[in-house]
Amino acid sequence: MTGKFITLEGMDGAGKSTHISHIIQRLEAQGHEVVSTREPGGTALGEKLRELLLHESMHAETETLLMFAARREHIHQLIAPALARGAYVLSDRFTDATYAYQCGAKQVELAKIQLLEQWVQADLQPDITLLFDVPVEVSLSRLATARAPDKFERENAEFFTRIRHTYLQRAKENPARFRVIDADKPLEVVKKSVEDIISTL
Ligand code: TYD
Repeated sequence: MTGKFITLEGMDGAGKSTHISHIIQRLEAQGHEVVSTREPGGTALGEKLRELLLHESMHAETETLLMFAARREHIHQLIAPALARGAYVLSDRFTDATYAYQCGAKQVELAKIQLLEQWVQADLQPDITLLFDVPVEVSLSRLATARAPDKFERENAEFFTRIRHTYLQRAKENPARFRVIDADKPLEVVKKSVEDIISTL
């Protein structure tokens, strides 16, 4: 028995978090066990690493290594066992975020990230990835009202432009896995797009 691995991605301020509880509800209504989690984080150790990753400044490669260290633990403790028992795992971010933020925006070498991905995940990949896409200005204006922005949320337009570009590029390269959602539309419209995707799973 194997479950399904669903990931949510997008720039900070794209609004993905707004949809999580609704997605859980829909999947549970379809009779699935749903395990909702996030990265960095998802385990006790991962949540400690998240604190460091979101608030301490560090070399971009240190950041990459810590993201994958947290991910190794996440897969071992939570993701793999849940999938093995047939659950649906819904993760708020996964490795596409490392490609977008550490490689696309912070210029960590692609080959290094690919190597870590292979090491940590072997052949584990999400079955489906919902990419919440908004123009950079929209993301920045939403973040301007955030109360206690973390270190990523304080970055500039150029940084977010590179993130958006990398995400869209990855979506183009993996069309079977990605669903790109125009998250600049009114909330009800975005919600409907998400529902349509979930109902096809
Ligand atoms: P985010 O998912 O936006 O959480 P919240 O909605 O609570 O702010 O925050 C996680 C941050 O971590 C986000 O800015 C992206 C960053 N991140 C990376 O840079 N690389 C990664 O591999 C992951 C998983 C996240």
